[in-house]
Amino acid sequence: MKRIMVTGGAGFIGSAFVRYQLRAYPDVHIVNFDKLTYAGNLDNVREADPARHIFVRGDIADFDALYTALNGCDAVVNFAAESHVDRSILGASEFLDTNVRGVYNIVEAARRLEVQHVLLVSTDEVYGSISEGSFKETDRLNPRNPYSAAKAGGELVGMSYYHTFNVPVVVTRGSNTYGPYQYPEKVLPLFVTNALDNEPLPLYKGGERNVRDWLYVDDHARGIDVALRRGTPGEVYNIAGGNERENITLTRKILALTGKDESLIKLVADRPGHDRRYSIDAGKLRGLGWRSEMDWDQGVTETVHWYQENEWWWRKIKSGEFREYYQRQYGNR
Ligand code: NAD
Ligand code: TYD
Repeated sequence: MKRIMVTGGAGFIGSAFVRYQLRAYPDVHIVNFDKLTYAGNLDNVREADPARHIFVRGDIADFDALYTALNGCDAVVNFAAESHVDRSILGASEFLDTNVRGVYNIVEAARRLEVQHVLLVSTDEVYGSISEGSFKETDRLNPRNPYSAAKAGGELVGMSYYHTFNVPVVVTRGSNTYGPYQYPEKVLPLFVTNALDNEPLPLYKGGERNVRDWLYVDDHARGIDVALRRGTPGEVYNIAGGNERENITLTRKILALTGKDESLIKLVADRPGHDRRYSIDAGKLRGLGWRSEMDWDQGVTETVHWYQENEWWWRKIKSGEFREYYQRQYGNR
């Protein structure tokens, strides 16, 4: 692989993947195609070598723009998505445009251009909630919020292109991801940055004991790379952190690491349709040689330190569009 289009490469996981490709494969060139929505941020790729990283501002829902940028690439890895469950509850229209129509455009453009590798980044949320045990790739999809339903729709369109047109589509389903450069609407960076500012941590009431499986962002990026290079077209690969924690445990950990006490916890009205537990089995990807390497305690500690040391990165985000969203999302809870 010489020229990889990364869609959504200015976001959280996409930018980690770009950094990883440039570091690990000296021959690889990246075409980073990103709409720069509220979540896209060129600060995330500011250190990418311009000789090997071309940025194109564009929308995956715009077929012509996507097709033009994809021409000449031998692989495409799609991270571009509307990615936040709570925003999908406030309004789902853009989720369908990007997460379904956008993915259709990618596989259709890849079919016409005969792109050799197509990796669609998806989520463990497409399986829905599980009370015991862990989902395998063959389990049925049961998405329960507009975000995960749209992600499942995109996956299904993508796989239909494998079966119908032999487009070499591989899907990964990653678990909840954390690390540097995560937009501070997601629980971990939201709680860390609020704690640093002595602002309340809005923990969903009734969801304190809900479980997420935490995956360090570089482990996720490496897992996607393994599936891209060693995976079989038409197959799905789970990428699990192996660190299932209740939300209250994560919250207490953040308070401890920031030196704050539990009086900052503010129980707020629960998320509608809040999935209780996500858990996936990553045995299939481990069979290709991947492992989740980051220890949870170390990963959370390093991540909290990163937000402490990089206020320049998140302060400007939290003062912009974010404030309006925060008011809409938490104002009346
Ligand atoms: P993010 O919200 O940080 O970044 C999304 C990026 O996509 C942004 O740069 C944004 O500008 C871009 N984008 C959005 N719509 C676009 C469009 N129409 N055209 C082009 N670019 C567009 O998201 P993330 O957390 O980095 O997630 C990346 C991918 O990983 C998503 O597909 C998401 O569903 C999946 N995923 C995320 C997690 C997680 O915990 N964050 C876990 C599993 C899977
Ligand atoms: P989130 O980071 O939004 O990821 P996802 O919904 O994709 O799993 O939320 C992780 C967990 O944290 C989820 O159980 C909801 C909970 N949560 C809160 O309690 N308060 C919050 O303000 C947010 C954003 C999430």
